[in-house]
Amino acid sequence: MEIVITGSAREAAIIAADAFERLLWGTDRAVIGLATGSSPLPTYHELIERHGNGRVSFARTRVFLLDEYVGLGPEHPQLLRSFIEREFIDQVDVPANALVVPQCGPADLASAAETYERRIANAGGIDLQLLGIGRNGHIGFNEPPSSLVSRTRLKTLTTATRQDNARFFGNDPDMVPLHGITQGIGTILEARHVVLVATGEAKSEPIAKAVEGPVTAMMPASALQLHPHATVIVDEAAGQQLRHADYYREIYRNKPVWQHF
Ligand code: F6R
Repeated sequence: MEIVITGSAREAAIIAADAFERLLWGTDRAVIGLATGSSPLPTYHELIERHGNGRVSFARTRVFLLDEYVGLGPEHPQLLRSFIEREFIDQVDVPANALVVPQCGPADLASAAETYERRIANAGGIDLQLLGIGRNGHIGFNEPPSSLVSRTRLKTLTTATRQDNARFFGNDPDMVPLHGITQGIGTILEARHVVLVATGEAKSEPIAKAVEGPVTAMMPASALQLHPHATVIVDEAAGQQLRHADYYREIYRNKPVWQHF
């Protein structure tokens, strides 16, 4: 696990965007996994800007969305599909129909989850998965406890998560759906590269526990310790509880040039 402590959310976004840029230059058909929420927004802004400058193209990219709410109507503006289309997809050249979202409409969510897993497999797996982290350590909607080998499935959102996400629902936690469908931890761990971005003091405790604490279903992000290529990018505030911060800085400063993300 590589820990990168940056001076600002903007710097974190530049480093995350660099990982995307390197992937897009190095492969003909990239498969990327995207998250919603506030943490990845600066990364999306940076990628949109690079796309505008002709530096990156998503024209041959497949996109898998990490998770989706269950129970919102197909046109609801707070569907995570709507969010990612608005904040990113519609502003770059991702082809029409290249975005795959767990389908939350059908009554049979179990088969929808299986279909989603199959679509990831048929695409050849995810090359680069972008993640945020919840205050309780969730990744996707994998609320604690989440099996470390779980696959895409329905999860019940915690009260804390519904309170955190209320800002997108007129500040009313009761308007936030009770359920979500999410890539499982096992699904996420199969992505070839996982990049988690966390900024702000509220993320400092889950980051310290996920990076330096035990691997446990009660701290879903700690599963990234089991991933062979996970990059955790934090700003100073989110990294402030890391006990070995100085060592992580030293590693990053001395990173061999050939060992880029
Ligand atoms: C988003 C998602 C969530 C968020 C997490 C952090 O698709 O799955 O796990 O990444 O809740 O949200 P923000 O970034 O808004 O603090």
